[in-house]
Amino acid sequence: LHVTMTDSDGVKHEFPDVEEGVSLMELGRSRGVSGIMGDCGGGCACATCHVYVAAEWWNAVGEPDDVEFAMLDMVADVMKDTSRLGCQIKMNRDLDGLEVTVAPASG
Ligand code: FES
Repeated sequence: LHVTMTDSDGVKHEFPDVEEGVSLMELGRSRGVSGIMGDCGGGCACATCHVYVAAEWWNAVGEPDDVEFAMLDMVADVMKDTSRLGCQIKMNRDLDGLEVTVAPASG
């Protein structure tokens, strides 16, 4: 599965070989994408995996649940309508071609 991820320095990374089930946080971390920390290990409790989903992919990715939304609210200064936590987006066939941009750090 293919993912395009623009990092916090504005550098675009193409990952054409992402396995199903891998989260965007795991992907960014394992490939050294700057700005993706994943401090809580994917527990929806740190927001250091915050990404902006490309508008055309928003419907396929879907809205955050209440727990995730509450976490995003902690980084409200950099939150956008298309904000999601990377650890909560797991790759599947429907997301082949997904494009996201790493959000800047809050604060
Ligand atoms: Fe902590 Fe995603 S890794 S919220």
